[in-house]
Parts: sequence; structure tokens; C-alpha cells
Amino acid sequence: MVLAAVSHPVAEERPAAHGDALNLVRAAIAEAAEPEAAAQRVVDLLHERFPNYDWVGIYWVDGDDLVLGPWTGPEATDHTRIPIGTGVCGAAAASGRTEIVPDVKADPRYLACFASTRSEIVVPIFEGAEVVGEIDIDGSDLDAFGSTDALFLEEVAAFLAQLRPRA
Ligand code: SME
Repeated sequence: MVLAAVSHPVAEERPAAHGDALNLVRAAIAEAAEPEAAAQRVVDLLHERFPNYDWVGIYWVDGDDLVLGPWTGPEATDHTRIPIGTGVCGAAAASGRTEIVPDVKADPRYLACFASTRSEIVVPIFEGAEVVGEIDIDGSDLDAFGSTDALFLEEVAAFLAQLRPRA
């Protein structure tokens, strides 16, 4: 008997590169000796595999602030502590919604980090209903991020929740 193929719309739309990267994220987390090393590996993987992900970092919530955790990219940022509610990062943490900024110069919330940045995506990391951190990615092209990046990075964020630093 031939069973009807049941396809999952999200999986069908997901580019192969995103599926491969999710498998690598899963494996990196399973293999890492401790959470900080796992989070660093995930950030490195995202940076290596997606040429438009020019700077990739994770901020973790610490009280009323976001504090920079692992990152990889051409330069360090001065924004290592951002109050929740400030900047694009702070807006995403306050609302719990993914922020896609196609042109950072056109967004008054944007906190400048790098002269090369033209666009940005920020994806909250949840533990239950609570935002515990976020993935922040800067791009050197205008409009470097779209809804497939958002869906993919929301899946990555779901894996990252277990790696958050605990007091
Ligand atoms: N641009 C961010 C600040 C973080 S840096 O991009 C690394 C913002 O507007 O919140």
C-alpha cells in the first residue's frame, strides 16, 4: 500500500543549509563539555556557514540588562551590557519578538556597533514564557535577513535556552 506523503510545510520551505546547520547545532551542544563552550561553538557555526552572518553574538539576560556572552566576528563590540528596552537588542528582549532591521540607518532604535553594519536580526531565546537571552546578528548588506532566517534562528534559539548561565 502506498501511503500518502504528509509533508510538513516548515520543513519543506526550510533551505537545506538550515537543516544541515540545525543538525550541527544539535551535535555541538551534545558533544560540548560545558554550556559556555557549546554556546561558543554554535555562534562559530552560524558565522562559518552563513556568509551574510557577519557578526554573531549571544546576549544573556542578567536582571534588567542584556550581557554579551559568546560572539564571533571581525571586531569586538563596546555594547557588552545593554539595558532591556534600549536598542534593537533591548526591544527584542522587552517584546519577546524577533526583530529584523533591513536598514539600520533607518531605525532610530539602532545602537551602532560596527561601521560595516547595514542590517540586523535579533532573535529572543526563551525558557518557557521568559526571555533569557537572544541571538544578535549583524550583516554588511542591506536587507541581509528575511523570514527564513527568522524561522531558522528561532529553532537555534530553542536549543540555546538550555545553555544559559545560571547563578
Ligand atoms: N545594534 C544593537 C547593539 C548590539 S551590536 O549590534 C553587537 C542594538 O541596536 O541593540
